[in-house]
Amino acid sequence: MESVKEVIKRYGNSKDNLIQIMLELQQLSGKNYLPDAWVKEAAEELGMPLSKVYGVITFYAMFSTEPRGKYVIEVCKSGPCHVSGSENIVHILEKELGIKPGETTADGLFTLELSSCFGACDIAPAVKIGENVHGNLTADSLKDLIISYREGLTYGNN
Ligand code: FES
Repeated sequence: MESVKEVIKRYGNSKDNLIQIMLELQQLSGKNYLPDAWVKEAAEELGMPLSKVYGVITFYAMFSTEPRGKYVIEVCKSGPCHVSGSENIVHILEKELGIKPGETTADGLFTLELSSCFGACDIAPAVKIGENVHGNLTADSLKDLIISYREGLTYGNN
């Protein structure tokens, strides 16, 4: 496994690449988060105040300082999605996954999060799983979606 130092070196030890570096480190953690020790090490390597690095991490919703599932499912709770039934989407996911928003499944596969608009209002209700947006969801299509992510893992082609 590549070390924190090696990742940063690949980006020329440049603080201009902080976001990219943090994204890579988050992936490297295997639990979709940024361990405190790594954030500290990165701040030192980049010559940045720790508070500034945490400022960036907490600003962007894509970063987490707590371990998360391999797939983070974000359910949009903004107006258009709400009107189109996002609450029902949350209920179905809670039932399918057996967790509440903010929690991670015991197998470490899914974390459920509520988010604000991610620009898919025209296909509301929508969820974002990792970088993929899925819209016009119905109870059935949502269940199929979860199955496809589970099977993707099973067959190792995700
Ligand atoms: S309101 Fe849900 S994606 Fe914009």
